[in-house]
Amino acid sequence: MSELNFIQQAPDKTTANVLVVPVVTGADGVHAHVADLSKKAVTSLDALLPTLGVSGKLGSLTRIPAPSGFSAETIAFVGTGKDADALEATDLREAFGAAVRGLSHVSHVALAVASDDPETLYQAGLGGLLGAYTFGDYKVQPAPAEQITVVSPAKLKKAEFDALADEAEIVAEAVCEVRNLVNIPASDLTPVKFADIAEAYGKSEKSLSVRVWDENELEKDGFGGILGVGQGSVNPPRLVRVEYKARGAKSTLALVGKGITFDSGGLSIKPAKSMETMKTDMTGAATVLETVVAASRLGVKTNLVAWLCLAENMPSGSATRPGDVLTMYSGRTVEVNNTDAEGRLVLGDGLARAVEEKPDAVIDVATLTGAQIVALGGRISGVMGTDETRNEIIEAADAAGEGMWPMPLPDHLKSGFDSLVADTKNSGGRGGGMLSAGLFLAEFVGDTPWAHIDIAGPSFNEEGPFGSTPKGGTGVAVQTLLAWIESHTAEA
Ligand code: BES
Ligand code: MN
Ligand code: ZN
Repeated sequence: MSELNFIQQAPDKTTANVLVVPVVTGADGVHAHVADLSKKAVTSLDALLPTLGVSGKLGSLTRIPAPSGFSAETIAFVGTGKDADALEATDLREAFGAAVRGLSHVSHVALAVASDDPETLYQAGLGGLLGAYTFGDYKVQPAPAEQITVVSPAKLKKAEFDALADEAEIVAEAVCEVRNLVNIPASDLTPVKFADIAEAYGKSEKSLSVRVWDENELEKDGFGGILGVGQGSVNPPRLVRVEYKARGAKSTLALVGKGITFDSGGLSIKPAKSMETMKTDMTGAATVLETVVAASRLGVKTNLVAWLCLAENMPSGSATRPGDVLTMYSGRTVEVNNTDAEGRLVLGDGLARAVEEKPDAVIDVATLTGAQIVALGGRISGVMGTDETRNEIIEAADAAGEGMWPMPLPDHLKSGFDSLVADTKNSGGRGGGMLSAGLFLAEFVGDTPWAHIDIAGPSFNEEGPFGSTPKGGTGVAVQTLLAWIESHTAEA
């Protein structure tokens, strides 16, 4: 990852290969949004914008040799897509993310921030780090910026600047690790290898403890959902529990992640096109793992337990057949009418096990339904659950600048799950697929406050990069979950 630091300085005095200057729009055109410390230099920038054809559109980048009076070698204007008075901290994260991504091969990038608000500085630095992400495990990628410096008029102590840098680095690393795990091919990230990665965190992070259930222990403890999904694969399933114990914490929050390392659909096999990106079906598990790792490094004051429900969904002679009945961990019997509705089977087990420990709330994160993409597209996740917890997640997403929208759990869709031979089928009627998946999960959470986040679309970006989000794995929801955990800490 790039090195991040913060300094108090006038933007024209900053030494760097590139000084990135955010551009905002106003009634009278575009403006350079920089601190007014040395009026002359800054006014001279503003005057250049119309001639250069600089756009205020989010992420649009215009580079020029620095005019005289600037210590940086070059200046890069980046559009924020916002009016000056509507500009939020997370908008700067997005703009600087796009800028740093567009400035590969540059070793020292400075980001000019006009504000002295610590949250704005933090988001700016975070954006820089997120924009510098590349996935170089299988091909040589352009080197990301070595050094990112956020320059602002903020008069903070060195320790305060360092704390901002530490926080941004921890969160960026969590988001980028999710991106890595999502981008790794399924052949290199089997349930066993995924569980090994979690166990390694248990060794390296002293406030984390990790327990793994192998296939024999899953059998012994009755995890029929996870076993039923995993039984067609040569790569056996795993359940992983990652616990963070905080000093003096009053509450415990549980996070459950769907970890299908590859979703072929099973015997209800997917068409070739739909299967192409199904290595990403473990995003929920990666998200809850990295969220807890980040929370422990940040030292949040809430206990956390993450549950990773890991299995590979494959067709074979040993695979679950349509019509088979599974007995879930909770004792509920499920007639599997569609082996491609596997996420809810592993999550049903994970949720039931998680709520047994009586957490104050439980959140599950899952690439659960294609219907989420139909309803909300590739950038807005659907959030369902009990009213209060669902609303808390929406609020946290707003604060974190991530797209999430509340969705209902309508009772009338329940009848779609009626089964002749078991308590329920695993796949309901045709309409409202995202909602009926949520209704299926609701049966496993008892009366624990709960939210379900369907990230099927937002987890993986198949179009061009935007803002701080690259193509491929996005790392979505980590920042929302951390904001939600933080809000619970404040209450306790
Ligand atoms: N993993 C898929 C959902 C998905 C689709 C995630 C596209 C990301 C992109 C899930 O397991 C699935 O196959 N869901 C089915 C459910 C149906 C069989 C009830 C779906 O959405 O078609
Ligand atoms: Mn599926
Ligand atoms: Zn799936």
